[in-house]
Amino acid sequence: MAGSRSLKQRLPLFLTVLTILACIISPVGMYPMSVKHENFKKCSQSGFCKRNRAYADEAVASGSNWKAPYELDSSSITLEDGYLRGIVIKSTESGEKVRLPLTVSFLESGATRVVLDEERRLKGDIELRHGSNIRKERYNEAEKWTLVGALTPNKVASFSPEPETGFTKVLYGPENQYQLVIRHAPLELLFQRDGETHVKLNDRGLLNLEHWRPKVDVPEGETAPEDESTWWEESFGGNTDSKPRGPESVALDITFPGYEHVYGIPEHADSLSLRETRGGSGNHEEPYRMYNSDVFEYELNSTMTLYGTIPYMQAHRKNSSVAVFWLNAAETWVDIVKSKSTTNPLSLGLTGKKTTQTHWFSESGQLDVFVFLGPNPQTLSKTYGELTGYTQLPQQFAIAYHQCRWNYVTDEDVKEVDVKFDRYQIPYDVIWLDIEYTDGKKYFTWDPMTFADPKGMQEQLDESERKLVVIIDPHLKNENGYPIIDELKSKDLAIKNKDGNIYDGWCWPGSSHWVDCFSPAAISWWKGLYSYDKFKGTFPNTFIWNDMNEPSVFNGPETTMPKDNIHYGNWEHRDVHNINGMTVVNATFQGLVERKKGQLQRPFILTRSFYAGTQRMGAMWTGDNQAEWSHLAISMPMVLNQGIAGFPFAGADVGGFFGNPDKDLLVRWYQTGIWYPFFRAHAHIDTRRREPYLTGEPYMQIISQAIRLRYQLLPAWYTAFHEASLTGIPIVRPQYYIHPEDEQGFAMDDQFYVGSTGLLAKPVVAKDQESVDIYLSDNEKYYDYFDYTIYQGGGKWHNVPAPLEKIPLLMQGGHVIPRKDRPRRSSGLMKWDPYTLVVVLDESGAADGTIYVDDGESYDFEKGAYIHRQFTFVDSTFISEDIGSKGPKTDGYLKSMSDVRVEKIVVVGAPAEWEQRTTVTVIEDGAKGATHASLQFTRGESGKAAYAVVKNPNVGIGRSWKIEF
Ligand SMILES: *[C@@H]1O[C@H](CO)[C@@H](O)[C@H](O)[C@H]1NC(C)=O
Ligand SMILES: *[C@@H]1O[C@H](CO)[C@@H](O)[C@H](O)[C@H]1NC(C)=O
Ligand SMILES: *[C@@H]1O[C@H](CO)[C@@H](O)[C@H](O)[C@H]1NC(C)=O
Repeated sequence: MAGSRSLKQRLPLFLTVLTILACIISPVGMYPMSVKHENFKKCSQSGFCKRNRAYADEAVASGSNWKAPYELDSSSITLEDGYLRGIVIKSTESGEKVRLPLTVSFLESGATRVVLDEERRLKGDIELRHGSNIRKERYNEAEKWTLVGALTPNKVASFSPEPETGFTKVLYGPENQYQLVIRHAPLELLFQRDGETHVKLNDRGLLNLEHWRPKVDVPEGETAPEDESTWWEESFGGNTDSKPRGPESVALDITFPGYEHVYGIPEHADSLSLRETRGGSGNHEEPYRMYNSDVFEYELNSTMTLYGTIPYMQAHRKNSSVAVFWLNAAETWVDIVKSKSTTNPLSLGLTGKKTTQTHWFSESGQLDVFVFLGPNPQTLSKTYGELTGYTQLPQQFAIAYHQCRWNYVTDEDVKEVDVKFDRYQIPYDVIWLDIEYTDGKKYFTWDPMTFADPKGMQEQLDESERKLVVIIDPHLKNENGYPIIDELKSKDLAIKNKDGNIYDGWCWPGSSHWVDCFSPAAISWWKGLYSYDKFKGTFPNTFIWNDMNEPSVFNGPETTMPKDNIHYGNWEHRDVHNINGMTVVNATFQGLVERKKGQLQRPFILTRSFYAGTQRMGAMWTGDNQAEWSHLAISMPMVLNQGIAGFPFAGADVGGFFGNPDKDLLVRWYQTGIWYPFFRAHAHIDTRRREPYLTGEPYMQIISQAIRLRYQLLPAWYTAFHEASLTGIPIVRPQYYIHPEDEQGFAMDDQFYVGSTGLLAKPVVAKDQESVDIYLSDNEKYYDYFDYTIYQGGGKWHNVPAPLEKIPLLMQGGHVIPRKDRPRRSSGLMKWDPYTLVVVLDESGAADGTIYVDDGESYDFEKGAYIHRQFTFVDSTFISEDIGSKGPKTDGYLKSMSDVRVEKIVVVGAPAEWEQRTTVTVIEDGAKGATHASLQFTRGESGKAAYAVVKNPNVGIGRSWKIEF
């Protein structure tokens, strides 16, 4: 399309040439700044993906003639103790009847689990090819790693089989408000709440469980009855997968009638509200893929797989949310299409505009799917978390600022960076060491030349309560004389290749073997490696980063392990791939809890690879992003999506991993990064140094202010983490979570609320932008965090100024925000600092909020050593009440905290009549009598709210008290 170009059009071309030149010159530019598509499979290159898409196409093309070949044998159905069981018969074209045992469990939580297996494989009645010794069952141990509870079935479910009508109905759930309607033939499951269908399984007849078949050689000159071109050995990128069990995928369509939006199924660099995947304008062409991979220079707006997987999807429409969880650890793809809702007698009262139809397929394993009927996002977070666990309550330091790069090159370098942060008065809590600290990439060692004195280095950090995180990857250097590899071999703890020999692949150290953390013996060995005695040079302030645990294998198919590799228990890597990374983190976690007998400590682990359940063990980050505005912009949707999927302790590399951010980008990235639950700067080895103090003025001051804002709000962040650890609720919450009735917010992923504080942030993620438009759903007053400018008007956009030095941040009326305002070098040094409480009044002059405080490092909170309080401001009285429960360590802890007081209360939106007042009355429990504290009122001017400041009310943070205004 080379038409004539105007000068204006030619200019960008000229700039492009310059950029290319710059790329050639700068070392980072040596990389092609885009993903190598040829390294990763498209659906058409993955046999089971191709087959299942073709199956769906055939169903669509056949229309009403499509005859789904699965039916539930009416005579086989039983209901006992909350389990419905029966046999599903799959009829093949050749007249074969394949028996598939079905189990539906009705759980106390209201969730339902549907499991379909293959009888012949359960009995081990199949033959493996190539003389393989692997297991014959379909993989059924994903739950062992993933689920931690809530599996008790609900025995009260009422049951009405109606063989004559061909339906079975089960009433279940809280107060029997849910009903499962099973149509026997063809099999279909409808999940209803309050008489309305919210989730349908196999509504489109795409259920497909590829049953085991022997490979029959077709005589020369004849053609096979079915297209077997993708059934057996599969080759990709020079690797051949032997597939000893042949084709064995499981697939199912899941429809959300009346639901236009679906979220979840991380990890993808895409919008929060997932897009359609079968082409058309603005849609994707490829299904969302989940196959944990080290994707070099990943691209944006893409369904390509990334490092982690959580096969959990939430659907949302006005006033209703439901979800599904596809418990399968094998490679999985999900197609999404949205259609106009049709009127259906079973979906009365349909309010959404569109119906979302999804189609899930996994390469192997059981079909195992959970259905959650909501009815709102909060209950979904709770129920899903009961099943897979809640976020670990992290150590206090872990939610402060982390400084990382590949690499701090010596212990002296680390100490110098540490000193410079202090010299420039920029707080930080943790400094990180990437792979170069090791002796020749041998984990659990230190390079004797560059890190000769780990102890001295960590002692210096400890002086200001700072921590060190070092990287430990699961690939172990295959070098004679390295004790770790010798033990791995002699104890037989490595992952094997298809022939049963130790698998050898290429990673950072060169030739490497991989620890098999599926094995109990490997777990106990790996745990032991972290003890202070074993990992010399580590101390209680050393923590761990598990990277490359997808696993990344540089010379493996799709940069990972061959699928026919073998794990403990004789399971193929194919079956367990997406869980692999989590097993490494799990073993590390067990090691860090008790590195010295009797010294229990909350672990901190960062992982790149994850699966459902990893939230119990640590934090994740979004991997190797780029120093580009577009990567900054995508980070928030990705972090928000992690929260929805139950793993909210998430962040992206601040500054971008590849490339050198310009100063504006770096500033905006810090101003965004302070909202990541996991807040860490990181950079590639070929990038220029970019510690905040190197940026020069005014950038350094602006970045420090951003980091200080994070530190100021740490009490609110810690409270939000505590809430997540009990209820699964995201730490940063997208618009639809807070305003589930406002359709305008359902696809919004660039503004969000922080915990339950009412803080509403919308970072600037575009170059040269000097203001942002913030959307308000409700009619509450919102106030600018810094100058109390009032914004009000629901259903409308409000322009908020955001020059480079300004962080766009509003406070919703009706909340109490706990802060610590004294600047310190690290969060550890803030431990005994007094609090500031910001009371943001709503239209009725009321506000409430909570605070949670503990020692930030031990497990004493489990024995009651914590402060948990409810603040309420109503009728001009501000009250602090205890909402914790007492344990053996409560009194001792409260005593240790008795000197920690509230030094300031700021009331935003203070009533005009307070102008006359100069004092407030303070009544503290256990005090001799009332005291007074001064009140200073400032009138609201030019669109700004009036506010009042109470100085030094001197009430204890752990005490009950009342302040009368
Ligand atoms: C990604 O998609 C969004 C929304 O459709 C668009 O604004 C943005 O420019 C896209 N980014 C890239 C890098 O394609
Ligand atoms: C949504 O919920 C609100 C509050 O419970 C209720 O008033 C309203 O009628 C509901 N709307 C719909 C469409 O169900
Ligand atoms: C690690 O796995 C074991 C065995 O499945 C499990 O008992 C334990 O709870 C897991 N640890 C965490 C932190 O989830």
